[in-house]
Amino acid sequence: MAKTTAKTAPAATAAPKASAAKKAAAKDNSAANGSANGQAGPSVQPILNQQFNAPAPLQKYGTVSQRLPIGLDSSTRQESVEMLNQMLADTCTIRDMYKKHHWQVVGPTFYQLHLLYDKHYEEQDALIDMIAERIQILGGVAVAMAADIAEVTSIPRPPRDREEAPVQVSRLLEAHQIILKNCHDFAKRADDSGDDGTNDLIVSNVMRTNEMQVWFVSEHVVDTPLARAE
Ligand SMILES: [Fe+2]
Repeated sequence: MAKTTAKTAPAATAAPKASAAKKAAAKDNSAANGSANGQAGPSVQPILNQQFNAPAPLQKYGTVSQRLPIGLDSSTRQESVEMLNQMLADTCTIRDMYKKHHWQVVGPTFYQLHLLYDKHYEEQDALIDMIAERIQILGGVAVAMAADIAEVTSIPRPPRDREEAPVQVSRLLEAHQIILKNCHDFAKRADDSGDDGTNDLIVSNVMRTNEMQVWFVSEHVVDTPLARAE
């Protein structure tokens, strides 16, 4: 018994400083819920509102750590993370444009565009997760929230208004082209720096998906006769 006490004593004396804030938060929560904390074993009360007294972030946005042993040097990771965050912000933007247009489309092509836009939304959403997780694997921090994405993306902001279907299509094709130009540039740079995983993601996933979507969307603005051949 004496041994056990001797072992646990240092931990017990080292803990109070670090746990002082936790205890205060627990006390606050207990008071807020009107419970008698500590009377009947460990509390099941969640420790709420910890964001208001948060410590320094685990990692700052824009920095790249060398956490994972994936055989790439820091300058290669840094360059890839910057490229991928641009690609992530642009992909989030075109994904949301597809949903906007899915909701707002009108006209004779309503049904097929309504369905096609949602299919493309889902495909872009899948790309987003691949890009963001690649950023994390490389040791970076993926941009995530809408307000931050709006600042990073290079795709022009569409109006909140409902627009005609051909205008929607033109906006989407412009966005696709911005992404695809970046794909060619970024794939080349990733290849040059030896980041084969990023090169493969950009070519096999992002580029191929966007090219296919350009095809399906573009054919809706070819001015061909609907009922009578000319
Ligand atoms: Fe829907």
